[in-house]
Amino acid sequence: VTKVTPQTLLQSKRAFTPLTALTAYDYPTARLADEAGIDMILVGDSVGTAVLGYDNTLSVTMDDMLHHARAVRRGTQRALLVVDMPYGSYQVSVEDALRNGLRFLKESGSEAVKLEGGIAYTPHVKALTQAEIPVVGHIGLTPQSIHRMGGYRVQGLSESAAMQLRDDALALEDAGVIALVLEGIPRELAAQITDSLSVPTIGIGAGPDCDGQILVFHDLFSLSFTRKPKFVRSFGDGRLLMEQGIRDFRDAVVARTFPDDRESYHMPKAEVSGERS
Ligand code: KIV
Ligand code: NA
Repeated sequence: VTKVTPQTLLQSKRAFTPLTALTAYDYPTARLADEAGIDMILVGDSVGTAVLGYDNTLSVTMDDMLHHARAVRRGTQRALLVVDMPYGSYQVSVEDALRNGLRFLKESGSEAVKLEGGIAYTPHVKALTQAEIPVVGHIGLTPQSIHRMGGYRVQGLSESAAMQLRDDALALEDAGVIALVLEGIPRELAAQITDSLSVPTIGIGAGPDCDGQILVFHDLFSLSFTRKPKFVRSFGDGRLLMEQGIRDFRDAVVARTFPDDRESYHMPKAEVSGERS
């Protein structure tokens, strides 16, 4: 298997080969995604909502991200491993972005970082790129902007908002991003941005015309306990599977049918005189 690199992403775009990306937060799910041939595994700060039970992603810390990124690293061989810079780890200064970006590469083995934001963050993208840290951009519905947006709302609906996002995309490409996540924007706008860039766009709630698609692992398997956004498609009912499995386990214990004798250890057979084992 050949390792996916930033160069691979660019080649896929040029060849019109759709890119596949999925979040993972731990070793088993990283292995499953990697072995299924997913091109990019993102340790998303969605770990906060999908796994840690927070209402939004704002309280996710560098330590949270490093902890999960290390587990995902151990389960990933082929996919490009990208980690989200959490809220607060890059907004204050370019220096913070650099220091924290370096930590991800040095302490978790991540191969790229992702950060949310447009033109205002091009200095951060440039500095990280200059420090040999590949950067994935992320614009549109950026969950770390929940309070500014007044909730999770589709972005780029007015012509001026759409123009701003087109400008953001070009500025980020100019600053050096290796790919750009487009989240929660009209498909027509995503198509325009995709056409205007030479780096690949990866959509989530941005329609089918992006160069690739990404979903949150728990959304893929109906394992999210929050309201399902329009763009989520469940590709398997993990929730039902687990609910049933847990109930069956409980019932079996209560009925004393688990464990049975074959699932039990036994004392060594008593030595019968004259017989050897
Ligand atoms: O944190 C996340 O899961 C993300 C993607 C869905 C793009 O940022
Ligand atoms: Na994220």
